Amino acid sequence: MSSIVALDPETGDYLWHYQTNPGESWDYTSSMDIVLADLTLEGRAVKAILHAPKNGFFYVIDRTNGRLLAAEPFAETTWAERIDLETGRPVEVPGARYENGPARVAPSIAGAHSVQPMSYSPQTGLVYLPTIHAAGIFDDSEIDLANWTPGEVRIGVATSWTPEDDGAGFHASLQAWDPVAGRAVWEVPQSGLVNGGTLTTAGELVFQGREDGIFLAYDAWSGRELWQMDLGLGITAPPISYAVGERQYIALLVGYGGGIASGIMGARAPRFGWEHGRQTRRLVVFALDGQADLPTQPPPVPAAPLAAGGFVVEAQLAAMGGDLWGGYCSGCHGPEAIPSGMAPDLRASAMVLSEEGFEVVVRRGLMSTRGMPGFGSLTNDELLALRHYVRSRAEVAAPSSGAR
Ligand code: HEC
Repeated sequence: MSSIVALDPETGDYLWHYQTNPGESWDYTSSMDIVLADLTLEGRAVKAILHAPKNGFFYVIDRTNGRLLAAEPFAETTWAERIDLETGRPVEVPGARYENGPARVAPSIAGAHSVQPMSYSPQTGLVYLPTIHAAGIFDDSEIDLANWTPGEVRIGVATSWTPEDDGAGFHASLQAWDPVAGRAVWEVPQSGLVNGGTLTTAGELVFQGREDGIFLAYDAWSGRELWQMDLGLGITAPPISYAVGERQYIALLVGYGGGIASGIMGARAPRFGWEHGRQTRRLVVFALDGQADLPTQPPPVPAAPLAAGGFVVEAQLAAMGGDLWGGYCSGCHGPEAIPSGMAPDLRASAMVLSEEGFEVVVRRGLMSTRGMPGFGSLTNDELLALRHYVRSRAEVAAPSSGAR
């Protein structure tokens, strides 16, 4: 758990391991990328690995033996004062394990860096790190382990978690991190929370796509923006570079999804206006002398829940449906039925008005080949409750006078 493990590639034999978070309690995984770099640390040549896991510390480790060489915070880290270089263990802050009750802890459950890869340039000696700046309230005081069943999102942990701030407080940045000096050399603030992975090239450029669909190139030394283009749909993937003959290409998968889009940080993602099936997910390829016109995407749209006077919401059924929603539907259709483009906005769906249509799709899986799983175990009462919940959410968003 939360470890780097080195194996012999020939035999599979275990060589060494390093654990970033012993007794991990915040979902601070170490499943982020690991970059090889040959560095000079205090006059000594080191074959290093570089690793920036969710816990907010940037680790430099000797890859020949697993020895920790440096670990500096690259974002707010309230859970630990520092990492002890002698023992390799974090020096944790009392209370950060919410052992005394609810605790504000940074980084949040989303981590200070997620699975969007960073990149390292041997020319600048810098690592280009997509960083998330957010904290959350961790709390297990209400959880009775003897009678506990997974709630809200069924990720199987006995901890509740709320974003500290669902408004302007969250932000992201692109940092150029110097792994030798242990500090950021430049930083570009970003309003989104989870932007795409980075690519750095021998031409001393850094490329990155953002949540809002903008793809950018920066000067790798200074962070100065050199170029940008609107690709019309949120970007989370990293670009890649390759050459065919003498011609160099940059390729990027454009499309919005993943844990943040599914609403782990609350209903933030919908503000971009990405709508399921409206904007096309696509592979976009660039070359310096490229002449092709990029087909335009339909513009982002504001949510437009359906007004349906004939459907009378019953509060008790809606409440029951809300409980089911968190476990079964919110991961794709969004928390509180506010989606971010991974699945349709059911507040705008006429199918929710139809008992038969809803049953065929939701229980019998009519659309399962199109990414809408069938939930065969749902009872008639549960299906009814889900419909009342979705309609209750539609009415909050579109009172009877409301939009289309
Ligand atoms: C794994 C992701 C996922 C989950 C979980 C999920 N859905 Fe869906 N759902 C989809 C996708 C994708 C579509 C769109 C399929 C298409 O039209 O191509 C969809 C479509 C639908 C539709 C049809 C909407 C329309 O107007 O065409 C309904 C109704 C629906 N889902 C209800 C639910 C309910 C209720 C739940 C929870 C019990 C749920 N879904 C869980 C992904 C999901």
